[in-house]
Amino acid sequence: MLRAGKLVGMPTETVYGLAGDATDPNAVAAIYAAKGRPRINPLIVHVHTFDAALELAEFTPSAMRLAEHLWPGPLTLVLTRRPSSGIVDAAAAGLPSIALRVPAHPVALKLLRLTQRPLAAPSANLSEELSPTQAAHVIESLGERVALVLDAGPCPAGVESAIIDARTDRPTLLRPGAVSRETIEGLVGPLSSAHGSQGIVAPGMMRRHYAPRAHLRLNVLAPEPDEGYLGFSPPPSGRQAHLNLSVHGDIHEAAANLFGMLRALDARFARIAVAPVPMQGLGEAINDRLARAAAKSEQDGV
Ligand code: TXA
Ligand code: MG
Repeated sequence: MLRAGKLVGMPTETVYGLAGDATDPNAVAAIYAAKGRPRINPLIVHVHTFDAALELAEFTPSAMRLAEHLWPGPLTLVLTRRPSSGIVDAAAAGLPSIALRVPAHPVALKLLRLTQRPLAAPSANLSEELSPTQAAHVIESLGERVALVLDAGPCPAGVESAIIDARTDRPTLLRPGAVSRETIEGLVGPLSSAHGSQGIVAPGMMRRHYAPRAHLRLNVLAPEPDEGYLGFSPPPSGRQAHLNLSVHGDIHEAAANLFGMLRALDARFARIAVAPVPMQGLGEAINDRLARAAAKSEQDGV
């Protein structure tokens, strides 16, 4: 199906991707159309080995080091695209760069190996909606816009890859993700922040994103009676959470549960309150997704 230009739901260790052949202009156009994604927001291209990635982009020393240590895995590198890459321009939204990742999920790796194509794959949800961490979420979001979903069960990490712009000596963290800042900085030193004078580097880093329908309130210790409460570790107030990201306060378990639990509460409540989640490790990615999900609620002032 991928060779015929169709779109396939692909499990990865982070979230399910909506995969299409990154060298096929029709497949890439179909990805943007299926998601209702603005065409200025570039896609991540997945390849099955570091060597395959080297053919598509120019690697700086910091990029080499990150790729050697963290691929396959939940790390995306933004690099300068080689003219010979064969990646269609639209996949990178016309930018001279390309976002590359070698996923660790065995099903994703096998699919990449069998197709022998670089696969463009954004998260398999409608633009701005919650990311899918189960095959059923992909069908709920995209229905017949996706030809086939490979069901490999729940995604083990549950939040998207960390995105690093590694084109300069001091790499920039564009999106915190399933590999922590601490791990990345341990390899290449302190990261620059994306919110500098350079403006929006990743067009997808729009403030509102990953949004449920419900109104979302963050860092809540005492939820209101009509709110669905998403807890983290035993709630100090004694108020029972409707769902708990991790009763034992395990940040990896919390990341894996995040999008699925938000979906579940969104189906039951018009208002959701979320307990504070610490910023350490994957907590940075969890808090980033929660802040973006809550952005509309803040703007509305409701
Ligand atoms: O974990 C993940 O990264 C998942 C799985 C499926 O691999 N994919 C994913 O894709 O989260 P998506 O499209 O939902 O998010 C991709 C992000 C967007 O914020 C986009 O702006 C950024 O990557 N991006 C892609 N290409 C870029 C580029 N050339 N320069 C800067 N940012 C880029
Ligand atoms: Mg996404």
